[in-house]
Amino acid sequence: MLGARGGWQALRRCASLPRAQRAVRLRVREALRAQEPAGGVKVQGWVRSVRSQKEVLFLHINDGSSLENLQVVADPSLENRDLTFGSAVEVQGKLVKSPHRMQDMELKAETIHVVGSCDTWSFPLKMKERHPLEYIRQFPHLRCRSNTLSSLLRIRSEATAAIHSFFQDNGYVHIHTPIITSNDCEGAGELFQIETSHEARESAEKTHFFNVPAFLTVSGQLHLEVMAGAFTHVFTFGPTFRAENSQSRRHLAEFYMVEAELSFTESLQDIMQVMEDLFKTATNTVLSKCPHDVGLFHKYIAPAQKDRLEQMLKNKFVTISYNEAVEILKQASQTFTFKPEWGCDLRTEHEKYLVKHCGEVPVFVINYPYNLKPFYMRDNEDEPQHTVAAVDLLVPGIGELCGGSLREERLPFLESRLQRLGLADAYQWYLDLRKFGSVPHGGFGMGFERYLQCILGADNIKDVIPFPRFSHSCLL
Ligand code: 4AD
Ligand code: MG
Repeated sequence: MLGARGGWQALRRCASLPRAQRAVRLRVREALRAQEPAGGVKVQGWVRSVRSQKEVLFLHINDGSSLENLQVVADPSLENRDLTFGSAVEVQGKLVKSPHRMQDMELKAETIHVVGSCDTWSFPLKMKERHPLEYIRQFPHLRCRSNTLSSLLRIRSEATAAIHSFFQDNGYVHIHTPIITSNDCEGAGELFQIETSHEARESAEKTHFFNVPAFLTVSGQLHLEVMAGAFTHVFTFGPTFRAENSQSRRHLAEFYMVEAELSFTESLQDIMQVMEDLFKTATNTVLSKCPHDVGLFHKYIAPAQKDRLEQMLKNKFVTISYNEAVEILKQASQTFTFKPEWGCDLRTEHEKYLVKHCGEVPVFVINYPYNLKPFYMRDNEDEPQHTVAAVDLLVPGIGELCGGSLREERLPFLESRLQRLGLADAYQWYLDLRKFGSVPHGGFGMGFERYLQCILGADNIKDVIPFPRFSHSCLL
């Protein structure tokens, strides 16, 4: 997005051009923020409203650069049949101070060119209607033209940049971890296997394109751990795939995960501090960069979320152990569908209860049962209840937002665990990392879509992604 400054510099440059060449293209956002009136301005975008009066024609134009539209004021003689809601237009004219309270600037049109017409009868979005999220979900190819989805997509873009900046500013190296991989990091078997279309047809005599079965990644962690053997701070932020048949409002088949790995780290607290700092810093950046877009969600979609988010940002996150969590759940007056028991995974209903119990602020739950967690987590060597140095961050309204741990850096511990699981051969390369300059290290992953749900209060994870087509299993 060009800043308002970029637009003004362009306007100054054009002042010295011959008159015929003077039209300067401005984004709607730049035009709205212009400090002074200017002639020879061109704005391109889509019509969000048309209001024709006897003396004057009003248009509202949006080009995706801001939630606010630019008001165009024109002589009724410029109106034509194709100038309808949804049509694409190019308007040339003068940027003038607006007499209206709602905006500082408006465009006084000299010419209006309809670049692409729009049949308003069959176009599923209607002028001045606030379409519910459920309605626009039916039109994944058109919903980005609604206010809600265009706000969401700008927020997603700013949040991506804010997360990258957080890590870059703190000295992390960004690594592109592979999307096609042969490892199952989480060991939960929720993998999508990939094959060529040729292999799919001749499934009887299976040959693999890569000679070994290959999958879409479920996590970049193991590849990040490779890099953590040479860089003390690394992160990755990319697409992740899980074949979960979950009908929940917080699971996707394709989602984005932010992952970080820190070397020379012996304390889970250090990892938790990075999670908390990341959450608070990135969120404050998003709130300051997109106040109107976030405001739309907090006003129309989730009115309680603004206060809830303020509490999350203001307060220190709470820490409890898994043991304490189970005790809290056992003593709860609420009856759960899944009875809380030591050794069982925490379900969403448990996570939500724990967050409420701790005062509706984010809660770190640490030290989970050894048998519940993947092979890479560091053994706490405790008794009688055997645990690993794992941490999950639970947040209000969502449940689990981040999962992380200290990694088992001690070769004998890791070797015997992998042998017991029958994985020692497949993970020889991973064991190598513990043979050559192994250091205590740890890291975490944060689900990007759940993070957006948490900022915006969006109840359904499908509403925070650009394209929902392959978000869920067809078994639903
Ligand atoms: O807790 P998870 O499974 O942790 C890992 O994959 C670690 N290897 C990360 C690491 O330590 N580098 O996943 C991390 C986060 C979850 O807490 C959740 O927010 C999100 O990823 N997540 C999903 N988000 C949307 N849809 C799904 N199906 C998700 N599965 C996990
Ligand atoms: Mg997890």
